[in-house]
Amino acid sequence: MSALTIFTSATTAAAVTVPATRASEDRRIPAVLGSDLEVPVKGGRLVPYANLDYAASAPCLEPVSAAVAAALPAYSSVHRGAGYASQLTTARYEQARHTVRAFVGARPDDSVVFTRNTTDATNLLARSLPEGTTAVVFDTEHHASLLPWADAVRLAPPAFPGEAVRAADEALAGIDGPKLLVVTAASNVTGELWPIAALAHIAHRHGARILVDAAQLVPHRRLNLTALDLDYVVFSGHKLYAPFGTGALIGRTDWLAAAEPYLRGGGAVKAVNDDETEWHADPEARHEAGTPNVLGAIALAAACDALNATGWSALLHEEERLIGRLRAGLAAIEGVHELSLWGPDHPRVGIVSFVVDGFTAREVAEVLSGEYGIGVRDGKFCAHPFVRHLLGAKDGGCDDVTASAVRASIGIGTTEEHVDRLVAALRDLLNRD
Ligand SMILES: Cc1ncc(COP(=O)(O)O)c(C=O)c1O
Repeated sequence: MSALTIFTSATTAAAVTVPATRASEDRRIPAVLGSDLEVPVKGGRLVPYANLDYAASAPCLEPVSAAVAAALPAYSSVHRGAGYASQLTTARYEQARHTVRAFVGARPDDSVVFTRNTTDATNLLARSLPEGTTAVVFDTEHHASLLPWADAVRLAPPAFPGEAVRAADEALAGIDGPKLLVVTAASNVTGELWPIAALAHIAHRHGARILVDAAQLVPHRRLNLTALDLDYVVFSGHKLYAPFGTGALIGRTDWLAAAEPYLRGGGAVKAVNDDETEWHADPEARHEAGTPNVLGAIALAAACDALNATGWSALLHEEERLIGRLRAGLAAIEGVHELSLWGPDHPRVGIVSFVVDGFTAREVAEVLSGEYGIGVRDGKFCAHPFVRHLLGAKDGGCDDVTASAVRASIGIGTTEEHVDRLVAALRDLLNRD
């Protein structure tokens, strides 16, 4: 990446240069912080932690931590400060926006609004919909994409990918007025990839727009919003190795520019007169009121740079090797059952959910942590309707332990030993008297 130079106000005419990162020169898979973490297990021993919970939050990449550390000495306010540190921090913040835009292959006229996370981003879009918009959403969604819509048509989990396209087609055909199809790119429960290009095509045929929840896709696959003809994409930094509290909503500017500001306050406003407030038309200012999370944005951009610099084929190759090993290991254990919507051969990212005969998901997760030093997630993964569907369970409260599963998820820093330890631990558990 080349250095970015900004020229500030005519009075100072100072040039502020953001140093170029080394990311584009480094094609090794970067390290994550915490790979040497040791955790206590039963009996008081310390063992190396096997983090298999990346789908919840991924550890911080070293280049991300380095970028934040490098930005801290000059850390200052953004957008309104005349001081050099403020100008430098503003340049870094806006460069981060530029990097995130390129990372998802956005169109030049798309907006990139920094948010707290994916949930914040979907809620921002929900508040920005033209009046009377109907959302069409599958029951398989994470709650962040399932719940924000005031007016939604909910579609049952489709039996196969083509059925998803057919169901969306039929639902969109029956709706008058503005419509938005909402779909996840990769399931946070099964890891399965959804046919987002075909769904975008169908949405546009009906004059609808499409929002893709890419929270679980972007840590694992390259996404190109323009090539896929998507209208909006949302994701979180903390799942993308940048756990500093920033996410993004990227996409078409018109709805965002016309919407009421998401937060009312400084930064979103152009002028405040006695009886009138003039809001910024530019969505990036209009919807980022208050002091933004600059370090979060810098971290997010550093993660984008680091993943691109490593090369997606190297990342994919390593992930497929490890998730293949894990799934084969699980499949070979009698009493462990992987959850899947579209069958074992459907392509997926590095996420696998399963149930274990004779044990609740909570029991399994506690044994894995307390006896083997393995971190997994158990529960319904903020996707209650979908998990119930996969388990053939009826409606139940959040505490319904029978309708829960265990989820193991991998990423940069996962090793064969982590995967093998999980498989061996489950085998041990099932062989206990
Ligand atoms: C597919 C998907 N969408 C949205 C979210 C919500 O992300 P966040 O908690 O960062 O808002 C998650 C988090 O697990 C997710 O997996």
